[in-house]
Amino acid sequence: MSKVLVTGGCGFVGTNLVDYLLKNSGLEIKVLDDLSVGRVEYLESIEHFDEGRVEFIQGDIRETDDVSRAVKGCSHIFHLAAQTGVIPSVESPLKDAEINIIGTINLLEAAVNNGIKRFILASSAAPLGEQEMPIDEEKVPEPLSPYGVSKLAGEGYCSAYSASHGLKTVALRFSNVYGPNSWHKGSVIAKFIKQIIDGERPVIYGDGDQTRDFIHTEDISNALYLAAEKELSKDFELLQVGTGDEKSINELYNDIKNIMSKKDIDVPEPEYVKERPGEIYRNYTDISKIRDLLGYEPRIDLEEGLEQTIDWFLEDYN
Ligand SMILES: NC(=O)c1ccc[n+]([C@@H]2O[C@H](COP(=O)([O-])OP(=O)(O)OC[C@H]3O[C@@H](n4cnc5c(N)ncnc54)[C@H](O)[C@@H]3O)[C@@H](O)[C@H]2O)c1
Repeated sequence: MSKVLVTGGCGFVGTNLVDYLLKNSGLEIKVLDDLSVGRVEYLESIEHFDEGRVEFIQGDIRETDDVSRAVKGCSHIFHLAAQTGVIPSVESPLKDAEINIIGTINLLEAAVNNGIKRFILASSAAPLGEQEMPIDEEKVPEPLSPYGVSKLAGEGYCSAYSASHGLKTVALRFSNVYGPNSWHKGSVIAKFIKQIIDGERPVIYGDGDQTRDFIHTEDISNALYLAAEKELSKDFELLQVGTGDEKSINELYNDIKNIMSKKDIDVPEPEYVKERPGEIYRNYTDISKIRDLLGYEPRIDLEEGLEQTIDWFLEDYN
């Protein structure tokens, strides 16, 4: 690996991955992002950004010219750019498909044409839908939302490009990611912290007993890096990545409340509202396969990660 492309590198996971790569490797990094959600200021605020190892290209993954320009000269692709919302995908399934399916095909085509050594796709637990817990790679997908379908299609195309073109691909199914640089995120940890800082009541959809497997950005970045560099015997791999711990939203609220109360921040009681359509009730991950194949091990426990994320919000969110 010498130069890598990070699509969606101005977004939440993308900026954390660029940060991780700058700190833990000597790689040069190209970033392709259309700035529909991410911001170039997010990228520029990363420590070591000004050392000249990052090249930013503003462009859309639906446009083949933008994609070709970005892929040129790279050996590996981390494909993170996506429409990431469940509700927007229910409201605009075509737009979701154009970005997440057509955009991914554009990247895979360019990967083949440019001799890319490995293509890593950011997928999600969303393809699986409601399953018996814990989820693993053997479960039969039953997506509950168009977003789940488009992520599943991305995995399918990775498998197909490996079989049809010999392109080496890894689809990583992320559980719920949290951490710094989540200014704009509507995911539950970022939302609770922002609501509390703004003096609002944290909103809980449904009864709050629904569960998630929360993984810190440092661990996701580590898993992405391992997926790019470890030797793998198969041309296509599908791997779940999480922590293996199940946490309810009510428990999460209490953890955040404890940490923020100790910092003398007033934490309002939560407001319970109607559950949202298309959302999975229980979700946590069996990480045996990624442990075996990549030697991945989650390092940041939730309490430590929450404390660090809250401190980041208190300093950088306004
Ligand atoms: N955050 C999570 O908890 C989570 C969980 C599972 C999977 N994922 C996956 O991880 C990836 C990154 O998610 P994130 O949370 O960082 O989201 P994000 O919205 O913060 O980042 C996505 C980035 O992609 C860019 N983008 C969107 N459409 C684009 C297009 N057409 N062309 C070029 N760039 C485009 C956006 O501007 C943004 O910077 C996504 O593929 C997402 O599906 C995230």
